Amino acid sequence: MDVPVLAPQVDETRIVAAGLVSPSTADPLWWRSAVIYQVYIRSFADGNGDGTGDIAGVRSRLGYLRDLGVDALWFTPWYPSPLADGGYDVSDYRAIHPAFGDLAEAEALIREALELGIRTIIDVVPNHISHEHEWFKAALAAGPGSPERERFWFRDGVGPNGDEMPNHWVSNFQGETWTRTTNPDGTPGQWYLHLFTPEQPDLNWNHPDVRKEHEDVLRFWFDRGVAGVRIDSAALLEKDPELPEIPDVVEVGKHPNVDRDEVHDIYRSWRAIADSYEGTRVLVGEVWMPDTQRFANYLRSDEMHTAFNFDFMARPWDATQLRESIVSMIAAHAPVDAPSTWVLSNHDVTRPVTRYGREDSSFAFATKRFNTPTDLDLGTRRARAAALLSAALPGSLYIYQGDELGLPEVEDLPDDTRQDPMYFRSNGVDPGRDGCRVPLPWSGQHEPFGFSPYAGTAPAEPWLPQPEGWAKYTVEAEAHDPSSMLSLYRAALSIRRATESLGDGALEWLDSEPGVLAFSRGGGFVNVTNLSGHPIDLPEHEEILLSSTELVGPTGQLAQDSTAWLRTQH
Ligand code: NOJ
Repeated sequence: MDVPVLAPQVDETRIVAAGLVSPSTADPLWWRSAVIYQVYIRSFADGNGDGTGDIAGVRSRLGYLRDLGVDALWFTPWYPSPLADGGYDVSDYRAIHPAFGDLAEAEALIREALELGIRTIIDVVPNHISHEHEWFKAALAAGPGSPERERFWFRDGVGPNGDEMPNHWVSNFQGETWTRTTNPDGTPGQWYLHLFTPEQPDLNWNHPDVRKEHEDVLRFWFDRGVAGVRIDSAALLEKDPELPEIPDVVEVGKHPNVDRDEVHDIYRSWRAIADSYEGTRVLVGEVWMPDTQRFANYLRSDEMHTAFNFDFMARPWDATQLRESIVSMIAAHAPVDAPSTWVLSNHDVTRPVTRYGREDSSFAFATKRFNTPTDLDLGTRRARAAALLSAALPGSLYIYQGDELGLPEVEDLPDDTRQDPMYFRSNGVDPGRDGCRVPLPWSGQHEPFGFSPYAGTAPAEPWLPQPEGWAKYTVEAEAHDPSSMLSLYRAALSIRRATESLGDGALEWLDSEPGVLAFSRGGGFVNVTNLSGHPIDLPEHEEILLSSTELVGPTGQLAQDSTAWLRTQH
């Protein structure tokens, strides 16, 4: 079926005349200060009316992204995939999932976005592939001892009948990490390793084919103009070839499957490829690593450019905790001269307005539960303050689609619509990640809230149902409401772009009372975030650039759970 491509809502003469083209386009250091918007493509915008977001939908909304003021888009995997893990189970790296479009459309999107000054970052998933990838199918067909199986971690089982797993590693999605195969004659066969679901067999990075294939995939996409890659599960690729049990005490760099010293060689070779291209093609790591020194190792000058700062994201709404995170993450980045990133959420974690509205406002996968009491008004107020705080911190900024609308986590999805393996593998104890992946509301009063177009007939239902009350969160409703989350984000990103000292650079803490995060970014820019529990006086200033809530009292104090951006004397 032909995918109707809606014309991008752009008027290029106006954009250039208004100076709206991102100045970062020509800047080799663009990534150090960039605002990167994460597109979870299934849920961003549907161009063809089938209820699933697609490239046509993104192309039709590029004007929205330009007006929001972002410098780059990061697309979660858009490749062919059985979607056993939302696309992080890739069956072909050189193509686009037919539900999302095709390669020609992806190329057009990359081009059109760049014309608006917006770069494209794609996701690569090197730790594992789909069980439907040709390599894995070939490995199953070729049988034990075959070269095809060497690209994976196939092992005979333990015990007289081989019916015990080769080891007892625990999956990142809970449960077992080994699945037993069946031989062509129907007898039980070897086992294979998967740190995530059985549909995601782990690759053996000691195999030259695995290395070469990924290097070719990088070139394939860099040749098509992508400005960078986000590297999934980046610390997991190397395994101890003996596949031992996890010892009680692990020697640094020698854990059997996380952050092994050898993993850095992979990123050195990727960096050399990225650096061989014109412009700066960035490597962005998904590195969950409590040890900040080990984390920073990934950002040495011949490895990745940046990595997600999950430490800050996971902290509760508490001034001491946030300050400690800011200080320690900036300090961790300094020796490798990498800018920090600031991230409030992504497609894996509870939406900020929900998280910050809870008694425990920290984030941890292990503690996600249904029926956690939530005050959404409080959470929204704090998320507004957090949005300004994170946009004022030194480095690049990531925005997960829908956070700019203040969308809450959808916690009451019907069970039969849920898709996330985290939900299923916990037997429904962990709500999973579907609640932050619900299709965006664009306009109107009812589902699909403009997510899918009406093309004569009613569009299909969105692949995950949208809550009835989402009319107030639509782009249409928020765009002209000065008090909306969208208006706050637009104003913040516009100030950020116009203020040279924001983005990459230094931060200087200012004296403040307990519970307040006050710092200067130079050039007369000051951020004040009030988590003290009561209104506070603002430091001396010339102008209030932006405030996440209205000032209160006769003297214009900053209310609790609020951030103000000030222009002060230099
Ligand atoms: C991290 C991704 O963000 C997540 O969505 C995925 O499930 C795992 N890696 C496995 O690929």
